[in-house]
Amino acid sequence: MGRCVKILFGSLSIIVALIAIGIAYLKMNDLYRQKLFARFLNKLSDPNNTAMMDIRCNQLLKHSNVKGQVLEIGSGTGINFLCLHNNTNIQSYIGIEPNIQMYSYFYDFIKQWDKIPYEIHLLNDSATDMHEVKSNSIDTVIMTLVLCSIPDPLPEKVLLEVHRILKPGGKFIFFEHTSANYEADPFIYGFQRMIEPVWAIIGDGCRFKPITNYFDAMKNVYSKVEYQHSDMPTPLFFIKDAVKGQLIK
Ligand SMILES: C[S@@+](CC[C@H](N)C(=O)[O-])C[C@H]1O[C@@H](n2cnc3c(N)ncnc32)[C@H](O)[C@@H]1O
Ligand SMILES: *[C@@H]1O[C@H](CO)[C@@H](O)[C@H](O)[C@H]1NC(C)=O
Ligand SMILES: *[C@@H]1O[C@H](CO)[C@@H](O)[C@H](O)[C@H]1NC(C)=O
Ligand SMILES: *[C@@H]1O[C@H](CO)[C@@H](O)[C@H](O)[C@H]1NC(C)=O
Repeated sequence: MGRCVKILFGSLSIIVALIAIGIAYLKMNDLYRQKLFARFLNKLSDPNNTAMMDIRCNQLLKHSNVKGQVLEIGSGTGINFLCLHNNTNIQSYIGIEPNIQMYSYFYDFIKQWDKIPYEIHLLNDSATDMHEVKSNSIDTVIMTLVLCSIPDPLPEKVLLEVHRILKPGGKFIFFEHTSANYEADPFIYGFQRMIEPVWAIIGDGCRFKPITNYFDAMKNVYSKVEYQHSDMPTPLFFIKDAVKGQLIK
């Protein structure tokens, strides 16, 4: 009983805090919001989170998995460079990042390695339209924790754009948030529904979506679609559900 009350009050105070932050945030202009999100993401991008870095570097972005012409969608503050900086299989790196307020954090972060053995470019395109990237030109596409921020029906467009730019046989590797399963976790599912409007505001538009639907819809487009459920190592109980996997052109 005492535990229930604690959880209830804990949740309520999180909600109230989120609503207050959300309202303040809504009143800001876009530029300021982009700046704030960049700063917020920079705080969240923690190289010392060893469980998360293990997923990024040892499960997802192993050197043998990431090679050739590499493109990352939503490169953010460059956190994945902890895994990529000394990957000698990489020939070039393009980061697709529409929030140009991220760029200074990105370049500051990767500055710590003075000899990254390939060229690095950032493009301020949206991944829904990467017109600056040629068709059939990329060997490996990387995407971590991006799709929830892309409003419907645009995630489909992103997956089709990635298919366009990949070389035949090229790999699209991802790790993404997904919504809780209603049957398995009705409490978390309900909590997500409840806080989503505010969460979307502070989390750069991130919504709790059954993200695997987008990948399933690609079964007739890509030659291979595979993913599995994965746990996000985070103290926030309502964003623990994730999927990791790959699409192969
Ligand atoms: C939650 S952050 C994740 C950053 C980083 N990939 C990571 O794993 O920490 C989402 C990133 O996706 C970017 N993003 C949002 N919409 C995008 C779009 N349409 N195309 C490409 N990137 C986008 C955001 O600017 C932000 O940098
Ligand atoms: C990570 O840990 C090291 C050593 O404990 C510390 O110096 C550094 O400030 C930490 N970095 C972050 C981003 O917390
Ligand atoms: C790459 O650097 C990481 C540390 O950032 C290190 O743990 C890893 O062993 C290095 N890998 C290679 C192949 O040099
Ligand atoms: C975005 O990229 C285009 C093309 O490279 C460039 O002309 C434009 O100045 C960039 N926008 C910003 C705000 O940097």
